[in-house]
Amino acid sequence: MNLPLTFSCASDLRKFLEAERISGKGIGFVPTMGALHEGHLDLVRIAVEENDRVVVSIFVNPTQFNNSIDLEKYPRTLDKDLQLLADLPKVIVFHPTKDEVYPEDDKFQPIDLNGLDEVMEGTFRPGHFQGVVHVVHNLFQIVEPDNAYFGLKDYQQLAIIKWMVKKLNLRVSIVECETRRESSGLALSSRNLRLNQKEKEDSTIIYSTLKYLQSNYKDLSPLEAKHEAIAFFNRGKLELEYLEIVDPVTLKQIVSWKDGAVCCIAAYCGEVRLIDNMIIC
Ligand code: PAJ
Repeated sequence: MNLPLTFSCASDLRKFLEAERISGKGIGFVPTMGALHEGHLDLVRIAVEENDRVVVSIFVNPTQFNNSIDLEKYPRTLDKDLQLLADLPKVIVFHPTKDEVYPEDDKFQPIDLNGLDEVMEGTFRPGHFQGVVHVVHNLFQIVEPDNAYFGLKDYQQLAIIKWMVKKLNLRVSIVECETRRESSGLALSSRNLRLNQKEKEDSTIIYSTLKYLQSNYKDLSPLEAKHEAIAFFNRGKLELEYLEIVDPVTLKQIVSWKDGAVCCIAAYCGEVRLIDNMIIC
């Protein structure tokens, strides 16, 4: 097994990548918080196809957690992650300490996210998205990728990253990747590690609700469809935090259907918070 070359020091990684860039190689970047699963690996595989070199970062970012217990409980499985990345060509791993990502002379200024951070996840996780844009911005400064890969699973995060790139005029292309699911429809997530078999079965209500909505929205207004979907969801055992049908770019609730309208759900299965979404039309 060939474990990937791993850097923990930002300046070492920069030097290494500089040499690669001089020889005209395109750099792909997949930021992660580790506890890798097939959803992450899909992003890495796509990046490997499209670039000469792929950096996968593994960093559990403290600034995006609003709950210290959640941060503490976040799974850290570096050895297993490196094994999952073994034998993938072109891949190198960046596993920095906090000081490498947030140096003393950090130039980052909070970004106006145009209200994208004030809905859905933003309502329930204040400060979360400033933490995400901060870490992704700083990682972009270190890696300077040509292409960066993000999952549609975190739809709001993706919309916000695209906004940041536009607003700061960053020279990186953002590539969106499909959500990887279990055969039951449950979206893969590092948090699924905290679910037992029964809870996993209960959690498929999220996917069933999204599919139900997709099949039944046509004769209803978005508001009626939302109420129907919530009623459908509540037949299951999870506790709904929100279910919204929103514009794909502004993330505002829609009043009439438009292409790309997306339904986003957050719900608790016991103590585990799960999110998912689906493009409805
Ligand atoms: P993390 O949750 O580790 O996710 C890393 C990337 O994998 C994200 O772009 C996420 O959308 C994608 N991903 C997760 N589950 C997926 C699935 N089932 N199918 C497809 N893609 C999936 O998202 C983060 O980390 C952090 O917020 C980060 C961007 C790294 C900043 O700290």
